[in-house]
Amino acid sequence: MTQTISVIRGDGIGPEIMDATLKVLDAMNLGLQYEFVDAGLSALEKTGELLPEATLESIARNRIALKSPLTTPVGEGFTSINVSLRKKFDLYANVRPAKSFPNTKSRFPAGVDVITVRENTEGLYIGDGQTITEDGELATSTSRITHKGAERVVRYAFELAKKTGRKKVTVVHKANILKTTSGLFLKTAREVAAQYPEIECNEMIVDNTCMQLVMKPEQFDVIVTTNLFGDIISDLCAGLVGGLGLAPGANIGDENAIFEAVHGSAPDIAGKGIANPCALLLAAGQMLDHLGQTDKAEKLRNAIVETLEAKDSLTPDLGGTGTTQTFAEAIAKRVA
Ligand code: NAI
Ligand code: MG
Repeated sequence: MTQTISVIRGDGIGPEIMDATLKVLDAMNLGLQYEFVDAGLSALEKTGELLPEATLESIARNRIALKSPLTTPVGEGFTSINVSLRKKFDLYANVRPAKSFPNTKSRFPAGVDVITVRENTEGLYIGDGQTITEDGELATSTSRITHKGAERVVRYAFELAKKTGRKKVTVVHKANILKTTSGLFLKTAREVAAQYPEIECNEMIVDNTCMQLVMKPEQFDVIVTTNLFGDIISDLCAGLVGGLGLAPGANIGDENAIFEAVHGSAPDIAGKGIANPCALLLAAGQMLDHLGQTDKAEKLRNAIVETLEAKDSLTPDLGGTGTTQTFAEAIAKRVA
């Protein structure tokens, strides 16, 4: 089977980690074809646009994109490209696995394996009702939760648990205070949970969840929550397992999906050839899962684990002296 994917090489360390990732994917004979398209600063320089129409058309056509980090220029008139992509393709589920890996800075080397499913299109982040009075004394911002929006993301979380043999979904909320918005999310989650009797569902208030994650992360399996809480909790989880260099994320909608590293374009190390490609590689693993190539995805993850275990060519952020290239070659050798 040949599958074409849209590939965005991105800005800063983006091209370096993308080349490394494609090298590993090529070593696996997956039958993937790459359609390279631009976004971000590199696109702005080439085309005058941060998110060219040709890029959107490519993603719409191929349905799957693998994306390196992009630099959104600071200043007026530049909306976040990531937010634009989520809106444009209605990518409502942001799926962020956090798993302890060997020889990383994980605080819990044995125990963390959590997937956060963050609602990606609603909540406070829609930017509705943002006002500030002229005297600067009063600011407002509106949150919006819909039954449909809550239903589809919670269902996604339960389906993910079912498909991957996970046993428990924790619904994270603040319905005790935010009675309408968080309340509707929780009520809807209960309706969906009732349709999955084989999967344990528990409910947890967001502040307690943060403490529990730091104290006893092994109690969590899949977490599903609203946009803002999910943003914060998934970064907390990334911190538990060794930080940004190992944190992948998938943005999933009914028609399209975009897979990326959680980290940014790391301008401080761009061009030095020392960026860690693992986060993007793990995102490529999520992409293979999504394409139904679960055995290949497992193989890729195992190769990463083996390379970390062997401390083979690790990049400086992992305490090694390897380069993006040599690290990727060490992983490619193990998947080939
Ligand atoms: P960042 O994630 O780029 O960097 C934070 C720190 O982590 C830096 O010290 C960097 O060197 C390090 N780091 C990040 N990825 C690494 C890797 N793979 N290997 C080794 N070290 C790594 O965050 P920052 O500095 O806040 O943002 C830089 C730019 O990235 C900004 O323009 C921002 O808008 C953009 N950004 C883009 C994202 C995306 O496209 N998904 C996400 C986050 C930020
Ligand atoms: Mg965030």
